[in-house]
Amino acid sequence: MDINKWRIVNPAGSKRVIVTKELPGEQWLNILKSAGCRVEIFSSVELLTVEDIRKAIGSNCDGAIGQLTETWGNELFSALKSAGGRVYSNYAVGFNNIDLDSATSNGIPVGNTPGVLTETTAEMAVALTFAAARRTGESERYLRAGKYKGWLPDLFLGELLWRKTAGIIGAGRIGAAYARMMMEGHKMNVIYYDPNRNRALENYADEYSGFLMNHHEAPVTCRQSETLEELLQLADVVSIHTVLAESTHHLINAERLALMKNNAVLINTSRGPVIDEAALVDHCRRNPDFRAGLDVFEEEPALKPGLKDLENVVIVPHIASATIWTRQGMATLAASNVAAVLTGYPVWNRPDITAFLEADPPKAAPSILNAKDLELNIYIE
Ligand code: DGY
Repeated sequence: MDINKWRIVNPAGSKRVIVTKELPGEQWLNILKSAGCRVEIFSSVELLTVEDIRKAIGSNCDGAIGQLTETWGNELFSALKSAGGRVYSNYAVGFNNIDLDSATSNGIPVGNTPGVLTETTAEMAVALTFAAARRTGESERYLRAGKYKGWLPDLFLGELLWRKTAGIIGAGRIGAAYARMMMEGHKMNVIYYDPNRNRALENYADEYSGFLMNHHEAPVTCRQSETLEELLQLADVVSIHTVLAESTHHLINAERLALMKNNAVLINTSRGPVIDEAALVDHCRRNPDFRAGLDVFEEEPALKPGLKDLENVVIVPHIASATIWTRQGMATLAASNVAAVLTGYPVWNRPDITAFLEADPPKAAPSILNAKDLELNIYIE
């Protein structure tokens, strides 16, 4: 690690906070500066190792903002604790890179950034869906290679998704936003697989169906699937929005891929290891009409052998949340988590975090994952 790559903001600040990557926007820095923090930012695209981060924590560090590319386990949380650290925030909504139990046993509150990725990530899932179904990557490569000699009746025939069935694995915030986009935009029926029933989504579909029928159009349907297998067999598009946990590792494997329609589309904007990527490569090779759109990969940034050579797979480098508004919002939430805990504020008590993006935000930490286990105070109005 090159020590010269650390940029220091507000050097006279009394609380030392390390941030392992430059973050977009200015608001997050203002939040930390107003909380009296000296902010040290690693200003390089180079990925830091656990050892690099341990060195950066040093013997005096009040808080840290880290990335999903880093492994925050006992080594880092105990180093942070020994350095006088009181808080960590992930610059991500996902937290599979964090050992929450270690953080809790070291008494370190862990923040994340929910609520600002929802529509942005769902939009990328939609973009990948149509890129895969309508073969945009493949046809663009063909055009750029100078192979286009004129319009043909059968040039790059793809799949029409209008009025077909979208299968959603994980109907939380992002999955439900994707479902609504596919229902409203493309009149798709929705079937979702989630241990929790999403009645709000089902009611939304009912009300939207009422609207459609008033306009003399056929309604849409939305229901929870009994089993993942049923969803895979019925859906024309399957979009994955589940968290990565032991129970979802390789949830989509060779056997389950074999249940899907030959011309189905599989989308993943959650975490790579939810799909057995080697099995997917094999499946796409043997089923040229099957299509996949992937934002995340099993061993990111590496791709499984053969993946990038498949014409029926669209791949982008983990950019589903990459809009300016979202990435600045994530920075604001991560900084607010750190600043609030260092200031002694309680933890926000509801899922809607939009108030933290306004000019006069609540005096609270927007999202602390282990607040209950650490028995932190909860915000009361
Ligand atoms: C997250 O926040 O978990 C996303 O994967 C970042 O894009």
